[in-house]
Amino acid sequence: MSEPITLLTQRKAWKALAAHYQTARTWHLRELFGTDPKRGERLTAEAAGLFLDYSKNRVTDETLKLLVELAAECGLRERIDAMFRGDKINITENRAVLHVALRAPKDASIVVDGKNVVPEVHAVLNKMADFCNRVRSGGWKGYTGKRIRNVVNIGIGGSDLGPVMAYEALKHYSERAMTFRFVSNVDGIDFVEATRDLSPAETLFIVSSKTFTTLETMTNAQSARNWLLRGLGGDKSTVAKHFVAVSTNAQKVSEFGIDPANMFGFWDWVGGRYSMDSAIGLSTMLAIGPDNFRAMLDGFRQMDEHFRSTPFERNLPVLMALLGIWYNDFFGAQTVAVLPYEQYLKRFPAYLQQLTMESNGKHVTLEGTPVDYDTSAVYWGEPGTNGQHSFYQLIHQGTRLIPCDFIAFDQALTPLGRHHDLLLANVFAQSEALAFGMTAEQVKAEGVPDWLVPHRVFEGNRPSNTILAERLTPDVLGKLVALYEHIIFTQGAIWNIDSFDQWGVQLGKVLAQRIVPELESKTAVELKHDSSTNNLIRRYLKMKRA
Ligand code: F6P
Repeated sequence: MSEPITLLTQRKAWKALAAHYQTARTWHLRELFGTDPKRGERLTAEAAGLFLDYSKNRVTDETLKLLVELAAECGLRERIDAMFRGDKINITENRAVLHVALRAPKDASIVVDGKNVVPEVHAVLNKMADFCNRVRSGGWKGYTGKRIRNVVNIGIGGSDLGPVMAYEALKHYSERAMTFRFVSNVDGIDFVEATRDLSPAETLFIVSSKTFTTLETMTNAQSARNWLLRGLGGDKSTVAKHFVAVSTNAQKVSEFGIDPANMFGFWDWVGGRYSMDSAIGLSTMLAIGPDNFRAMLDGFRQMDEHFRSTPFERNLPVLMALLGIWYNDFFGAQTVAVLPYEQYLKRFPAYLQQLTMESNGKHVTLEGTPVDYDTSAVYWGEPGTNGQHSFYQLIHQGTRLIPCDFIAFDQALTPLGRHHDLLLANVFAQSEALAFGMTAEQVKAEGVPDWLVPHRVFEGNRPSNTILAERLTPDVLGKLVALYEHIIFTQGAIWNIDSFDQWGVQLGKVLAQRIVPELESKTAVELKHDSSTNNLIRRYLKMKRA
């Protein structure tokens, strides 16, 4: 007989946290720092070269103890072990969840359905490296004999956001003689703008799709094929020289006309949003070269090891996940702002949006019962200092509690005059201002007239984490991504949800497929939607046919 399931809100630690919150909500970070002068040094943790300052959170040692107890009560240790072992923890799709196998060392053994998957991972990596070396050296020629100078990745969701983010993040290390573009949207403008100044003879398309059925990707791939054939005289054999595929679906790849020899595979145990370090990272490897790609994988692996083996009290992903739960489920915070003070990380928040929200935006438990607590927060953000001149006003003086993750680096990749000191001065100033604010007395002491004082007051008590690393290298990027992957895992384990399916994207896809023939029909069709949808479709058709 299976054990009765304890609901999260019935757990001892959860109840203790709920009671503890009644006092915690009255604390101010000014007092927490005032009564513990060493707090800013004490509430820090370091792993694999990432330094985390979590002292500016509304917690005491007691809070942290209770949060760690919650993780233990929810069986986090067992869940971590189950993932690394290759158990089928994605229960609604009956799949293992093994992005950690993508960066496992050659001699590791991770068994899925009786087979060690690590040798296959390394075989694909070697095939990718060989291909990338040929393209980067000019050994791989296009149809006309010219070398490839442009790479266009076609994909969407996990088959786009990771590659774009990694390309932007690691541009400093990229082959500058080559152009990299990314096409995702079914809006034709995306393709048109990405290719308008490219020469077909020098362009390679990577069609990246786990399923090789995604509407957007298949439509863009077809347009790319037409563009290439138009540009190179219509000979179908051009496709083999200018198209490669990254997919788990060999049959669909060959139906599209791509030589299976030019397909780079991955496996159903890699979730789309967890795939940037699989063959989906082919564009990344082409940009930064195989050695840098392997360095990135090494960074991922170091964070994996830290997550797997470090006690929860000092475990970066676990600490950050628990702090997130503290605000999400007890303070009622709705969002988390991710604020990298590093222009190269400008797409990092967008990447994290899929990673976090597609994973943990769930409303039922693993057993299928509705949750009675909030699951994933809304993630958003922009690089500093730009955000400071836009939405930070609300974070400082608005009515909502928005926990922030600041990310910064000790060294600039390309130092330029005073810029880096100014950048870092701003990130330190922001977390200081958010935590401590400015009281009415302090404002008055500056000679501000009484009527203006309320407008100038900063309440403070706005929590933040600060992550510092030495510099943005490929391995540090791997560590950062793995950090958030494991934060999500930890939160999903505590919320007792399936973080690895994404049924919520299906309905819209199905309904769109129903509407497509209605929009493309040459004759009048009877519309059977609700009155709003019918009306919108009619209006569009009227304009289209006018
Ligand atoms: O629609 C959501 C989704 O399934 C994502 O999870 C995935 O990353 C994306 O679509 C793209 O899927 P594919 O790689 O199969 O084209």
